[in-house]
Amino acid sequence: MTEQCKCTNGEDNCCKKGHDEKLEKLNSILEEFKGQPGALIPVLHQAQQVYGYLPEEVQYHISQGLGVPLADVYGVVTFYSLFTMTPRADYNLAVCMGTACYVKGAGELVQKIRDEFGIKIGEISEDRKYGLEATRCIGACGMAPVLTINEEVHGRLDADQLEEILQKYKTGEQSTTHA
Ligand code: FES
Repeated sequence: MTEQCKCTNGEDNCCKKGHDEKLEKLNSILEEFKGQPGALIPVLHQAQQVYGYLPEEVQYHISQGLGVPLADVYGVVTFYSLFTMTPRADYNLAVCMGTACYVKGAGELVQKIRDEFGIKIGEISEDRKYGLEATRCIGACGMAPVLTINEEVHGRLDADQLEEILQKYKTGEQSTTHA
């Protein structure tokens, strides 16, 4: 199985090592579940924990390992929202684009993130650290405009505060309480 390498840390063969480790884990998951009825969903679930997502190569490997048609594997992956075929970033930056947030400057937050990381809504950065998405109202309109980074909610943000927060994430100094 081959997987396109996105590694940027510059170590020789580091990606190959990482990929081999993941493949080893996947093989032991397949070994554990092989022949068991209803194995597909738990295997997909564990494979996603290993890889972070379920690219086609992984689905193919699972199909071969369990003896399940690839179309069935693909069908399950695309049916359940729990599964994803696209890589997720370490930090998912979700800007609320509901009316209150939009009126209070959510568009500027999006622009700032675009400028900072070179990503548009729906994209992730090349190093897979940052992803940007737009959400509907998350019910925190009193704190508009609102940005959620993974589980952390940041409210009443202006461009300067956002800059400060992004710098903390970039340097790994982010705190756990905000807004
Ligand atoms: S509009 Fe953004 S939280 Fe409601």
